[in-house]
Amino acid sequence: SQTWLVVPAAGQGRRMGADKPKQYLPLADQQPVLAHTLARLHRAFPNARLVLCLDVDDHWFSPRWVPFTDWQRVAGGSERMDSVLNALHAMAAQDGDVVLVHDVARPCITQGDLQALHHAAATHPAGALLAMPVADTMKRADKNCLSARTEPRDGLWHALTPQGFRYALLRRALETARQLQTLVTDEASAVEALGESPQLVSGRRDNLKITHPDDLALAAAIMASQAANTPD
Ligand code: CTP
Ligand code: MG
Repeated sequence: SQTWLVVPAAGQGRRMGADKPKQYLPLADQQPVLAHTLARLHRAFPNARLVLCLDVDDHWFSPRWVPFTDWQRVAGGSERMDSVLNALHAMAAQDGDVVLVHDVARPCITQGDLQALHHAAATHPAGALLAMPVADTMKRADKNCLSARTEPRDGLWHALTPQGFRYALLRRALETARQLQTLVTDEASAVEALGESPQLVSGRRDNLKITHPDDLALAAAIMASQAANTPD
């Protein structure tokens, strides 16, 4: 079946606080974050079809950063979920097609993680997401930031992207979340709300989401280290 890539890139990057959205800030080799992310996705899935969610007022985007031959842009929505739902409504997908959703702000995604996630998404009926076991001790705080108790760390994971599902399931999940006005911050939580359990795929710890100003230098260092350690 066809593989689709949905890349939400319609955020404002408020926590970054730069003069433009973080996906347009230069990384290693001066290419913007968005170009790095798309290049890695294209290398893994050269024949996939790309749907790129961009803000309607975006005036930084350039198509020269898109290596895919088959791609379309759609308008972003007010929340990430609305951007992804716009993509799902605009694309001419079949119910059984595999759709991988990947944050534009995660340019350090590796080929190995992309392949593992795609395989899991195509294999598990409830889909799959990259995730990372929690390493720190987890505290439950009250409203005054007083530590009320320690949560058992067993079975706690960080949810990363990509997350991948069959088109029909993902669309139904996000449409249901919108109808019920539940705020979902990732696709997997919308699928869980339907009573389905996506597969967690243990991913690399260096799949950083660029969020705060410090993260740009960190991402550049991660990329340099990846290039040095996996020569090809
Ligand atoms: N995103 C989107 N549409 C929105 C909000 C976010 O497509 N309405 C995308 C972002 O571009 C990013 C991903 O969703 O790729 C994850 O969001 P986040 O890291 O929160 O990025 P921003 O919303 O841009 O950053 P901030 O929350 O700091 O403003
Ligand atoms: Mg945001």
